[in-house]
Amino acid sequence: MKKTLINNTQSNLRGDITVPGDKSISHRAIMLGSIAYGVTEIDGFLMGADCLATIDCFRKMGIQIEVNNDKVLVYGDGLHGLKEPDGILDAKNSGTTARLLSGILAGQPFESTLTGDSSLKKRPMKRVTVPLSKMGAEFLFLDENEHLPYTIKGGKLMGKTHITNMSSAQVKSSLLLAGLYADCPTTVIETSQSRNHSELMLEYFGADLKVTDKCEVSIKPEPRLIGQHVIISGDISSAAYFIVAGLICEGSDILIRNVNINPTRAGTIKVVEAMNGSIALENMRTVSNEEVADIHVCYSPNLTGTTISGDIIPTLIDEIPAIAVLAACAKGKTIIADATELKVKESNRIDTVVNGLDAMGATIKSTDDGMVINGGEQLFGAKITTQKDHRIAMAFGIANLVCKGSVILDDANCVDISFPNFFEILNDLC
Ligand code: S3P
Repeated sequence: MKKTLINNTQSNLRGDITVPGDKSISHRAIMLGSIAYGVTEIDGFLMGADCLATIDCFRKMGIQIEVNNDKVLVYGDGLHGLKEPDGILDAKNSGTTARLLSGILAGQPFESTLTGDSSLKKRPMKRVTVPLSKMGAEFLFLDENEHLPYTIKGGKLMGKTHITNMSSAQVKSSLLLAGLYADCPTTVIETSQSRNHSELMLEYFGADLKVTDKCEVSIKPEPRLIGQHVIISGDISSAAYFIVAGLICEGSDILIRNVNINPTRAGTIKVVEAMNGSIALENMRTVSNEEVADIHVCYSPNLTGTTISGDIIPTLIDEIPAIAVLAACAKGKTIIADATELKVKESNRIDTVVNGLDAMGATIKSTDDGMVINGGEQLFGAKITTQKDHRIAMAFGIANLVCKGSVILDDANCVDISFPNFFEILNDLC
C-alpha cells in the first residue's frame, strides 16, 4: 500500500489505538524459541521486516516456524538442535538479528556466513566479534573493520567476564547467548544498564541467570530451556510517535493500549513528564515477565525544554528522533547529550534529525554527542531525506502534523522495518 502523509496543520488526534509488538522482544522470542525444547507460542509478534529476517535465519538452520498473522509457533529442538545453515544468513537491515545471532552462531559446531543490507554492512560489529573471539569463536572477515559479511566458525566456548565500555543490549545479549554454550559462567558488566529483555526472557525460558547489579549479569552454561507462551506487548519505540503527536497537536487525546513499559525502555515517559507533558499510565500489569500499561496522552500547551543525558539515554535511545520533534515544539532549550551511539544506528541519527529539523526551520545544532534544540518556533514543510531509516520517516511524519505546508519523505516505505501500519493508524487518528 502506498504510504502518504496528510497535510493537516489543525489535526486534533483523538482515539484509542494499539501499536505493533515490541521489536526487541519479537526477535528474542524467535531466538529463544529456536534453542528451547518444544513449542514456543508467540502472540503479538511484530511482523516487521527486521523480525521476519530473524525468522528466515532460523528457518535456514532447520527450525520449523509457522506464522499466522501476529501469532507464531516455533518448534525448537534445544540448545544443540540448530543445523548447518542452508545458505548465507541474511540479517537484512537488522542490527539486533546480526549481533544476537552472532552470539548463538559462535557456540555452534558448524560454520555459517552472516550478511546484511548496505546499511547494516556499514555498522560496527567489532563490539561483538572482539569479545566473542575472546570466548573462542573464529571469524573470517572481508575487511579490517570487521563489518558484515563474515563467516563464523563456532564451537565450545570459554566463559569469560566482559567489561564493556558501552551500554548496549545487543552486545550484552550476544555475549549472554554465547555464554549458553560456554564451559563456565559468562558475566557482562556494562557502563549503565541497557534494556534487559534478554535477561527477562532467558529467565522465563528457564536459564540460570544472576543479576548482581543493574549493570552486571552472569549466566550459567547449558541450561535446559523449555518452550513458552510469550505474549508480546506493544513497542514503546513505536508508541513514542503517537505520544509526541498527542502532546503537540491541539485538542488531542490518545489512549495507546498495551504498551511495554519495562523501566529499561521507558525513559521517554520521564522526559515527557519533565517537559510538562500530560501523560498517564493506566491499567499497569505484568505479562510474560514484562511490565505493560495503557498510555494516555493529551495535548500539552505548556511544553518546556529539558536536558536529557547520562543513564537515561539507553532507556530512550531509539525514541530520540521523536523526542527531538517534541523538543522543537517545546518552549526553551533542550539538550541531548551522551548519545554518540546515535551515529551508528540505521542512519547517523544526529545528522538525519538535525538536518531534517533545520530544513523545517527549527533552531537546532548538532554536538559531538547529541544536539541542542531551541524550541517553540513555527515549523515549515520540507523535503526530508530519511536515508531509509524507519525512525526518521516516522518522526518527520509526526512533525508534518504541526508544520505550515507539507513534509515530503523521500522514502516512506522504510517504516515497514518496525511499524508497517504506521501511516494507516496516523491517517485514521487524523
Ligand atoms: C536493541 C538494542 C539497542 C536499540 C536497538 C534494539 C535490542 O541497540 O537501539 O534498536 O533489541 O537489543 P544497542 O544495543 O546497540 O544500544
